[in-house]
Amino acid sequence: MTAAHLQAGTLGALRLANRIVLAPMSRMQADEDGLPTQAMADYYAGYARSGVGLVITEAVYTDAAHSRAYFRQPGIADARQARAWARIAGAVHAAGRPVLMQLQHAGRLAEPGLHACALGPTEARAMGLAWQTQRPYAEAPVRAAGASDIEALVRGFADAARRARAAGFDGVELHGARGYLLDGFLSESALGHLEARLRVPLAVLRAVREAMPDGLLSWNLSLYKMDDYRYQPPGGRAEIEAIARALVAAGADVLHVTTRRALRAEPWGETLARTVREAVPDCALIANGGLHSGEDCDAALAHGGAQAVSLARALLANPDWFARLREGRALRAYAPGMEAAPLSC
Ligand SMILES: Cc1cc2nc3c(=O)[nH]c(=O)nc-3n(C[C@H](O)[C@H](O)[C@H](O)COP(=O)(O)O)c2cc1C
Repeated sequence: MTAAHLQAGTLGALRLANRIVLAPMSRMQADEDGLPTQAMADYYAGYARSGVGLVITEAVYTDAAHSRAYFRQPGIADARQARAWARIAGAVHAAGRPVLMQLQHAGRLAEPGLHACALGPTEARAMGLAWQTQRPYAEAPVRAAGASDIEALVRGFADAARRARAAGFDGVELHGARGYLLDGFLSESALGHLEARLRVPLAVLRAVREAMPDGLLSWNLSLYKMDDYRYQPPGGRAEIEAIARALVAAGADVLHVTTRRALRAEPWGETLARTVREAVPDCALIANGGLHSGEDCDAALAHGGAQAVSLARALLANPDWFARLREGRALRAYAPGMEAAPLSC
């Protein structure tokens, strides 16, 4: 019998040749203008050829103002960047696989030195060391987004989604996780009750839905933050359920539930994927976190009721993941820093 992760399926309106998704993974190797390169086209097409059922790109910044998170991050903030991305969508499609672009606004998690002043839900700075430069986030000033900033960032997401769709992407995923701007709004206790925290994320989701009526729209959801791995929502399980329902009501076709370990129960005794599944039974789900082998993927699919699973570190360390499993060869372990190696697949 074919293993569950190798079976064909669907994700919303997309048909998948199998249930394995290349998770969004920032490699930070665009050129200095945020233009994606030919090496990136070869890299994404290589994953498609290797067998993954769906490619989700690394996080792509949406506007030229404050959205950029990393040095050498690719953007889709203008027509020139969009044209370069069209080559990548074409290369993945030529390899026979669908592709979503992940759209991101950095918020207060922009690398120190990238912006004179980052934009956040409040003036609060991120904690600890920045991911790419290892400089203290505390070095980077943050300004609380006002009404005109919010209007501009919502428009930034909508325009970016329109460009991505016109460039040939099958849809977009909004980076609503890990403390970047959208998740920052969702989790910022200083903004008050959940309804207030949902205001900007839902405005972005609705605007993107309107800008891209026929593309697949995914939302990447996590509890943990880049600068707070232990974060738990103040309202626990009920809050997660309310967030999931609100995202789907505002137009999300897919919830991409991302954790450090997909099969680990949260403090309320259930995995995040399971809780989301029960809250929005009709929404397509991708489960993510700590999955390495084919058996891990099958266990996550069986447990969480997800349509697909996504892998980041296992596919980074093993661009030939499918071939290794087919041929019974051992998988390589991920080592921190692999993302900085030249792109290969
Ligand atoms: C090198 C690297 C880069 C990442 N970049 C992104 C990103 O651009 N967007 C995103 O949503 N998640 C990003 N993530 C998180 C992964 O998508 C994933 O949620 C996380 O690594 C857990 O999955 P895994 O155990 O399969 O690695 C990144 C992870 C790694 C290891």
